[in-house]
Amino acid sequence: MEVRSQWGTRAGFILAAVGSAVGLGNIWRFPAVAYENGGGAFFIPYLVALLTAGIPILILEFTLGHKYRGSSPLTFRRLNKKTEFIGWWGVLVAFVISTYYSVIIAWAMSYALFSFKLQWGSDTEGFFLNHLQVGKPGQVGSLVPDVFIPLIVVWVIILGILLLGVKRGIEIANRIMIPLLIGVFLIIVIRALTLPGAFDGLEAFFKPDFSKILNGKVWVEAYGQIFFSLSIAFAIMITYSSYLPKKSDITNNAFITGFGNSSFELLAGIGVFAILGFMAGQQGVAVNDVVESGVGLAFMVFPAIINELPALNGFFGFLFFFSLVLAGLTSLMSISETYIAGLVDKFRISRTKAVLVGGGLAAIISMIYATKGGLHILDAVDYFINSFGVAMLGLVEVVLIVWVLRKLRELRNHANDVSDIKLGVWWTICLGVITPIILGYMMYDSLRQNILKTFATETGNYSNFPDSFIFYSGWSVAIGVLVIGIILSLIKWRKKP
Ligand code: PHE
Ligand code: NA
Repeated sequence: MEVRSQWGTRAGFILAAVGSAVGLGNIWRFPAVAYENGGGAFFIPYLVALLTAGIPILILEFTLGHKYRGSSPLTFRRLNKKTEFIGWWGVLVAFVISTYYSVIIAWAMSYALFSFKLQWGSDTEGFFLNHLQVGKPGQVGSLVPDVFIPLIVVWVIILGILLLGVKRGIEIANRIMIPLLIGVFLIIVIRALTLPGAFDGLEAFFKPDFSKILNGKVWVEAYGQIFFSLSIAFAIMITYSSYLPKKSDITNNAFITGFGNSSFELLAGIGVFAILGFMAGQQGVAVNDVVESGVGLAFMVFPAIINELPALNGFFGFLFFFSLVLAGLTSLMSISETYIAGLVDKFRISRTKAVLVGGGLAAIISMIYATKGGLHILDAVDYFINSFGVAMLGLVEVVLIVWVLRKLRELRNHANDVSDIKLGVWWTICLGVITPIILGYMMYDSLRQNILKTFATETGNYSNFPDSFIFYSGWSVAIGVLVIGIILSLIKWRKKP
C-alpha cells in the first residue's frame, strides 16, 4: 500500500487551491454578472456572500479534509456510515464538469494558435461555429478533428500531471502555472487600461446601481457566483485539503484562498471592461451594447476586439487565450483529482491505475463534446449540473453536518487547534442559519424555473432546444450523478474505511 500523498509546502497547497478556484468563471463569468447586477453596488452582496458562505464553507471543507484525511467519499464515510453517497455525488458532479471543462480548454488552445495570424477573420461568430462544425441540437454526428485533436492534448497534459502525483505533479504544475497566469494577466490588464475608451468601460463596470441590491435575484446571483468561483461543494477542496500535513493552518489558508480568488475576479472585471470600453468606442456604441459573457465573450467578442487593437494584435490575442488555458488547466486538474482520490481510497488501486481508469473514462466521454452537436450538449449539461450541483450539494452538505450529524462544534475545535485565527460563533451562524436559508431559496427557485421550462428562452445564445433534448442532456445527467453516487456508496470497501 502506498503512503498517502502530501503537499510539499504550504505555498504549494495555497497555489493549488487558488489554482482550482481561479478558472474560466473568474475571467468570463464574474465581469458580466457584476455588471448586470448593480455594477459597483454588486460588491455589497458579493462581499456578504464571500464572508457568510464562501469562506465559512471553504473553512468547513478544509477542516473536513484535514481531519478525516480522505477523498470526498472516504471523508463522508468517516463522518457517518450512511453519508458516503454525498461524497460520491460531489465526485460525480466534478467528473461531469471535467468532461466539458476540458473541451473549452481545447478550444482556447486552438485559439491561442489562431491568434498569431488572426485566423478568425472579421466574422468571428461565423468562424467559431464553423470551427466547431456546430450542428442541430440533439444531433451528435461525427467527431470534429479541429476540436478532437487539441482535446487529446489537454488530457495528455492533465493525466501526465496527475500521474506524477500530488507533490511532484499538481503542486509543481501550480507553482509554475499560477505565477505565470498572474503575470500574463497583468500584462493584458495594463495593455487594456492604456487603450482609448478603457475608462468608459470601467465607468460602466463600477457605476453603482443601488436600486438593484434590494432585489433578491441579485443576492442569489452573488451567492451563485461565490459558490461556483470558489469550487466549493464539489468535493474538490475536501480532496485537496486531505493532502495537508498534520500541522497546517486551516483558517488562514481559507482566507488567503478566498481573497486570492476574489482579487483575481476583480482584476478580470477591470481588464474585461477596459477592453469592452475600447470596443464600444471603436464602434461608436454604448458599453452596454457589447457586454457578453461565457463562450460568446471569449470566442466571438474577444477575437473581434483583438482584430481592432492598434498594435501587436496577434501577441495579445495569444496572451488572452493562453491565460484561459492556464486558468482552465489548473482548475481541471483539481476537478479530476477528486475521482482519482475516490477510486484510490475505495478500491485500493494504485494512483497510476486510478488516473488511467478515471481520467481515461473522463477523456473518452469528453469526446461527445467534440462532435457536431457538442456545443449544444455542453450548454445544457453545464446549465443543469450547475443549477443542481451548486445549490443542492452545498445545502445537503451544510444541513447534514450542522443539523443532522451535529458535528460543527467538533470541527470548530479541530480547526481552532491548528489555526491562528480562531473560529467564533459567527462561523456557526453563517453555516447553520444564513447559508441554509440562502441555498434553500436558490434551490427552490432554480427547481421551479427549470420545471417551468424557462430554460430554452433564458439561455439565449443557442436557444430553442427540443424538450427531449433538455431531458436527455440536462435532467438525466443531474439525476444520474445522484443515482450512480448512491450505487457506488453501496459497494463494499476493500479495506475498513
Ligand atoms: N472555480 C472555477 C472557476 O471559477 C470553476 C470550477 C467550478 C472549477 C467547479 C471546478 C469546479 O472558473
Ligand atoms: Na473562481
